[in-house]
Amino acid sequence: MIELTVNGATHRVDVDPATPLLYVLRNELGLNGAKFGCGMGQCGACTVLVDNRPVFSCLYPVSSTAGRSVRTVEGLGTPARPGPLQQAFIDTQAVQCGYCIAGMIVRAQALLEKVAHPTENQIRAHMSPNLCRCGTHMRILEAIRKVASSGVLHAATNEENRS
Ligand code: FES
Repeated sequence: MIELTVNGATHRVDVDPATPLLYVLRNELGLNGAKFGCGMGQCGACTVLVDNRPVFSCLYPVSSTAGRSVRTVEGLGTPARPGPLQQAFIDTQAVQCGYCIAGMIVRAQALLEKVAHPTENQIRAHMSPNLCRCGTHMRILEAIRKVASSGVLHAATNEENRS
């Protein structure tokens, strides 16, 4: 049995410890936001946060989550109450096919929680591991800039750390 904490909830799953985290999220926990793209750490569609850092969950053994906190796009908001980045992606129409978007949002979340007002170069460098084959990168960047300029995610994270 493997125990893991995802979006604040603890789960026990009966899987091989080497199973990629992505498979556990999708097949055992029904969290289908993170996607299987390349399975080789080259596209970012499977990106989730482990202890607030983006990881390629297609390559990340579930056993490595022991004692760590996993967050997925489902933990960042709901359809009724989208998180700031989710709302910004909707507002800027940053989605075409949508396959890469959960990974994009999750990766951007990690940056904006850590850096209040990242520069354009910081945003581009941070987002570079994640690919969008529809070519909506310019709108994706626009959505991230919107939230970055508000500093809302950084402020919320600091508030949580203080309480
Ligand atoms: Fe994990 Fe492409 S599916 S990086």
